[in-house]
Amino acid sequence: MRTPTLEIHLRPDQLLESLREDVRVGLTSDPKWLAPKWFYDARGSELFEEITRLPEYYPTRTERALLQQFSDEIIETATPSVIVELGSGSSEKTRLLLDAATRAGTVRTYVPQDVSITALEGAATQISAEYPGVEVHGVVSDFTDSLHHLPAGDRRMIVFLGGTLGNLVPAERAEFLAGIADVLHPGEHLLLGVGLVTDPGVLVPAYDDAAGVTAEFNRNVLRVLNNRLGANFPVENFRHVALWDAENEWIEMRLEAEREVTVEVADLGLTVRFGAGEQIRTEISAKFTVPGIRDELDRAGFVVDRTWTDEEDRFALICAARR
Ligand code: AVJ
Repeated sequence: MRTPTLEIHLRPDQLLESLREDVRVGLTSDPKWLAPKWFYDARGSELFEEITRLPEYYPTRTERALLQQFSDEIIETATPSVIVELGSGSSEKTRLLLDAATRAGTVRTYVPQDVSITALEGAATQISAEYPGVEVHGVVSDFTDSLHHLPAGDRRMIVFLGGTLGNLVPAERAEFLAGIADVLHPGEHLLLGVGLVTDPGVLVPAYDDAAGVTAEFNRNVLRVLNNRLGANFPVENFRHVALWDAENEWIEMRLEAEREVTVEVADLGLTVRFGAGEQIRTEISAKFTVPGIRDELDRAGFVVDRTWTDEEDRFALICAARR
């Protein structure tokens, strides 16, 4: 087995600085907001893993089933020699693609990218051991600016799974997709996993489960601010809210102050006041239609080669080529 190599473009001090900046801007805005990437400390990542196993949270298992069923077709469509995965986390679902790529004998290199150095080290080491024929090169960075660090190659496939594209608003998505198009050569591929617009009676419970795991996940962002920035949020006084915004076609998660609250963010010297009932937006999770995402990809410089959806049309895998 070859030892995986690791490239670090995001040091812990840079991550902390960007948290400070985000919190300073988000909590002094009206309405207040916090970016979803700050959910994922060790506890938040565990809670997310727990979410993926909830009966109400269908996206992960639906995407996994699609990968199980169609990995060979995906690899046949893109014939990648390099697979770059943005936001790879535990690389759990990627194994299905690597299995297919190994069967087809096309893939030489796997490049997982994540903000979490611990997640990345673990995943890179395991994948190296499991796929002795594949060279593993991890990149620690923020996915929105990780694209400058892609390895050279001519048959690369960038993989962005889980529906995480939906965390970006349309203007951010356009910029992000154009950035990917910019680094790819004509004929290279992007594989996207996106949640589809479906019945709100299915969507909302997926983000507001009966066991309250998503509520804990949502509130965890306040614990991150308490731990990392010396804030004193009374976490239990913030109520989890999940709603379907039909006009924007996204799920929005918020935290609502149940009473008037004054919070000190000690490390920023910032005092933040919440009225009773005031909400902070913590995440949007946009859902797509197949024609809609096709159009966004088209405008970014891609042409969709193949689309795979589940029987209930809740999730799609889309393989697009750089024009
Ligand atoms: C990891 C961004 C894809 O939006 O479904 C799960 C995060 N938030 N439950 C999603 C999440 C609430 C998840 N993504």
